[in-house]
Amino acid sequence: MKKGEFLYEGKAKKIYRTDDPGLYLVEFKDDATAFDGVKKDKLADKGILNNRLSAIFFELLEEKGVETHYEKTISEREMLVKSLEIIPVEVIVRNIAAGSLSKRLGIPEGTVMKKTVLEFSLKDDELHDPMINHYHIYAMDLAAPEEMAEIEKAALRVNELLVPYLREKGITLVDFKLEFGRHGDKILLGDEISPDTCRFWDSSSQEKLDKDRFRRDMGGVVEAYREVLRRLEGGE
Ligand code: TMP
Ligand code: ASP
Repeated sequence: MKKGEFLYEGKAKKIYRTDDPGLYLVEFKDDATAFDGVKKDKLADKGILNNRLSAIFFELLEEKGVETHYEKTISEREMLVKSLEIIPVEVIVRNIAAGSLSKRLGIPEGTVMKKTVLEFSLKDDELHDPMINHYHIYAMDLAAPEEMAEIEKAALRVNELLVPYLREKGITLVDFKLEFGRHGDKILLGDEISPDTCRFWDSSSQEKLDKDRFRRDMGGVVEAYREVLRRLEGGE
């Protein structure tokens, strides 16, 4: 598989074409950003860890029948994925109040939500990914109602699968963000699943094992990501 034309650079990844039009190559960078790129740093090995962690999650989800863009890992920092036309709607799933939800609604961080919360935001950094609802999604023609039904079902299924899987590893899945895209007539889960896009708390100590360590200047960011990988690979 040849690395082809450079297509797109995001904040944490670069996307390239390959010699197969149906496949893209994703390269995970060490760059970390927060607050829409206002805070920036390079964290050695973050890209390697997120490539590996995303592969583990995508493989698990595929095994359980969730269709993802993941094809295979081809190097420390690179995976092959099915080409997607990304739907510019970020899907956030929340089990426990944290981050922007706590701030916006005044719900103390750590409060267990009585029901899983789904939120949508417009994928647009310049606008700071504003929260939107179904009316905006259809009025702006971002996705069709049938597509949203499929996306919501898949997002909740991902949560149902990942919560118990992570619980067994001593990790609480607080919340996470997913992106979906179109590949032919299918909708596939895309992007990445990693401590950059999820909140992971140690189940006993509540210690943060995710990008909040970077957002909140807590230090030990890469060490925390490495700890998540150790637990997932160690079968602990
Ligand atoms: P929030 O509480 O800041 O809205 O974040 C909710 C979840 O979404 C959290 O797990 C982090 C993730 N997330 C991203 O993946 N990308 C983003 O740009 C933001 C703001 C959050
Ligand atoms: N990914 C976003 C940024 O780079 C925000 C975040 O994850 O906090 O600004």
